[in-house]
Amino acid sequence: MGFQLLEKIADEFGTPVFLYFEEILKERARSVWKAFEGMRLVPTAALKANNNPVLLSILKEEGFGGDVVTPGELYAALKAGIEPSKIVWNGNGKTHQQKEFFMKNGVKIVNVDSIEEYEKLWKDADGVDLFLRINPDVEAHTHKYISTGKSEHKFGVHYKKAMEFLDREGKKFKGLHIHIGSQITKAVDFENAYEVVAEISRKFGFSQVNIGGGWGIDYGDGQELDLGEYRKIVQSTLKDFEKIYIELGRYIYAPAGILLSRVHYVKKGIEKHFVVLDTGMSHVIRPALYSAKHSVEFSEYTDEEGPYDVVGYLCETGDFIRRDIRGKLPKEGSLAIVKDIGAYGYSMASNYNSIPKPPEVLVKEDGTVKLIRRGETLEEMFRGIDF
Ligand SMILES: Cc1ncc(COP(=O)(O)O)c(C=O)c1O
Repeated sequence: MGFQLLEKIADEFGTPVFLYFEEILKERARSVWKAFEGMRLVPTAALKANNNPVLLSILKEEGFGGDVVTPGELYAALKAGIEPSKIVWNGNGKTHQQKEFFMKNGVKIVNVDSIEEYEKLWKDADGVDLFLRINPDVEAHTHKYISTGKSEHKFGVHYKKAMEFLDREGKKFKGLHIHIGSQITKAVDFENAYEVVAEISRKFGFSQVNIGGGWGIDYGDGQELDLGEYRKIVQSTLKDFEKIYIELGRYIYAPAGILLSRVHYVKKGIEKHFVVLDTGMSHVIRPALYSAKHSVEFSEYTDEEGPYDVVGYLCETGDFIRRDIRGKLPKEGSLAIVKDIGAYGYSMASNYNSIPKPPEVLVKEDGTVKLIRRGETLEEMFRGIDF
């Protein structure tokens, strides 16, 4: 995408603005289908990665359902027109009150996170497809905060304990669920987890499985999941299943979105310089939270060399978007593009430092540009306060 169009969009909608590309979103959705060609796949989009109903409605047209954790995510999925029969309910803290809301809205597929959850909510359930989340105790080689499949993590039932439990209650379940983490770039880590789930499923005669998400993308360092290798693993480990659910967030959404921002200041330091944007960790929390490295590109550069950090304007040293860039400094006033922010960008944004959330804009396949969520106003940020 050329900077001319980006300047036009920045003029029309202001900066910062989350910008998404329909074409990329569709391409990603289609390559998910391709990886499972010949198998009966039920793909769902993880709303935790992105909850914009307009984007989800595009994925719906590509045959996707939704993976939701909260009533808020369910609301967004229904708003996007996802049929309740294609909505999977995840989470490790489901309540009776939430259950009422989910059942009232016709959700019928539930990933049960613990034996305690089963006893509390599902023991007598009827007409709901229950999947037991297994903790396979395997390594995912990803950041420790987004690794979920080791016994020390809070998710799922340890596979050994699960087998004892299924000996008693197996008949109540449709199958197993597994999700070992996010941003996984080594196919072998999936293989280890899928083998565990396939073996237990065979033992209990389950013909359906939910394999979660986790596909790792290239954030600019050349590391990403090799889908050819992944397909081979799926073909060998999951061949006996009649139906496979998958829940993908990052892989579909991340490359389809950028954050368009502007350089406020180029501040000269001693060891390094600081490029200050009109956004920050309230819109891009992943670098502070997970040491994530988003690539940043500018519309205009000076002849002066870095090193420099790209930072926000919030009152935190942790408010950085990318650190230690070597190369030319950008010009003050130039556009900054934070790449691969379509997943876990807007959905993780906060109002920290009382900064309203920015708008979301979609570049459609035909090149037209559409506002898909207004930016928040100050009044909206302080709504409900009455004195
Ligand atoms: C249960 C579950 N399913 C699916 C996902 C989506 O993961 P990803 O965005 O890595 O595809 C997550 C996110 O961590 C998750 O917790």
